[in-house]
Amino acid sequence: MAGGDGERVEGGNIMMPIEGRRVRVGVLGAGRWATMAHLPGWVRDPRCELVAICDVDRGLAEAAAETFGAGDVSEDYRAVVERDDVDVIDVCTPSHTHFELAMAALESGKHVLCEKPVAFDFRDTLRAADLARSKGLKTKLGFTFRYSPAMLYMKELVDQGFCGEPFIYNAYEQNSQWLDPQTPLRQVDPNADPTRLQTSSLEGYGAPVIDLARWMVGSGFSSVVGTMKNFVPERVVRATGQMTRINLDDGDIFLGEFANGAIGSVQTSFVTVGNYPGIEVRLYGSKGAIITRLVQEFGIPETIKAATPDEVEFKELEVPERFYPTGGGPREDWHTLFYANLTKNFLDELTTGTTENQGSFDDGAWVQEVINAVEISVHERRWVEMPLPR
Ligand SMILES: NC(=O)c1ccc[n+]([C@@H]2O[C@H](COP(=O)([O-])OP(=O)(O)OC[C@H]3O[C@@H](n4cnc5c(N)ncnc54)[C@H](O)[C@@H]3O)[C@@H](O)[C@H]2O)c1
Repeated sequence: MAGGDGERVEGGNIMMPIEGRRVRVGVLGAGRWATMAHLPGWVRDPRCELVAICDVDRGLAEAAAETFGAGDVSEDYRAVVERDDVDVIDVCTPSHTHFELAMAALESGKHVLCEKPVAFDFRDTLRAADLARSKGLKTKLGFTFRYSPAMLYMKELVDQGFCGEPFIYNAYEQNSQWLDPQTPLRQVDPNADPTRLQTSSLEGYGAPVIDLARWMVGSGFSSVVGTMKNFVPERVVRATGQMTRINLDDGDIFLGEFANGAIGSVQTSFVTVGNYPGIEVRLYGSKGAIITRLVQEFGIPETIKAATPDEVEFKELEVPERFYPTGGGPREDWHTLFYANLTKNFLDELTTGTTENQGSFDDGAWVQEVINAVEISVHERRWVEMPLPR
């Protein structure tokens, strides 16, 4: 039986673990991120079997199948999604296609890993989460940075009470990926109305650190206020190869109040000088503070530092070995290191019978709701209360 090898509904039915055989995966999209992160993650884990790779560009699917050893290739996602011998569909296509492909996979009874966002309106992501729940299927978003060894260690320390009562959360995702206007911009509509600012960095770069906000602070935002700015007005668009006026947010900042009394700030940009991925997360509380930085510099992809009221100078912590995927270590490149932990975690959730499903479409819906609330705040120049109307 495909995908739904058993039943699970959150808070009710339990999904039967996939046991006695490998978990069969079909990957949709064989572009840059699939070949840099997703496929290396799947093939690294002996519990996984790569059944098929699909790309509308068949040549890319074939090349990836040869490199990563998939059994079959296709140009049509439906042919993969509807297979009986697939348990998990991995959606790694351009963002505007995610919702259609993820919904089709869920309708076909497959567990789904989907790159963020599932959809641009949080209500659609909620629909996908509800569909998964009604069918007893597990879902996971590509929240890569939850799974960095240093971030997993930070989460453990926070859960153990290292920071005490959370006061202030600060987060950044910023690098200079598109500072040069000649770097071809993908995932953009060249015909969009240039008088209206399109959300871009907040969606692509904001989502991961918004996700980490609720995970680390232990509470969602109750209200937000933000600003977005277009710094580089003209860029080469990949789809046309032309220099075009593109009015998108390539830098943004928002403030938020959490329901549990903490406060926070999030800043993202892809035109700020610095290296990938450019994440920094800080949590300050009544008993201590932790700063985790995921910026690959001089061969080191991440650092975690902590301080207490008695020892206020931040000291670097060593990440325990248990947080690394098999064969991983503190000098592995971030693309493969973090994602290997994500695919490992999903395989754990599918094979061990745990009811856990972290970084799921429900988490994705909340993240998208925050993004949608900040968009309203920016366009209406005001604080916005959460939750938003359903
Ligand atoms: N989580 C992260 O840290 C992270 C990092 C980079 C990219 N991403 C996300 O990953 C996704 C893919 O990004 P990318 O850089 O690999 O883009 P890409 O353009 O390099 O690759 C996407 C591939 O999908 C294929 N495709 C398009 N529509 C398809 C369809 N209907 N069926 C099958 N294949 C289809 C394209 O031909 C292309 O090869 C995006 O949503 C991006 O935002 C996430």
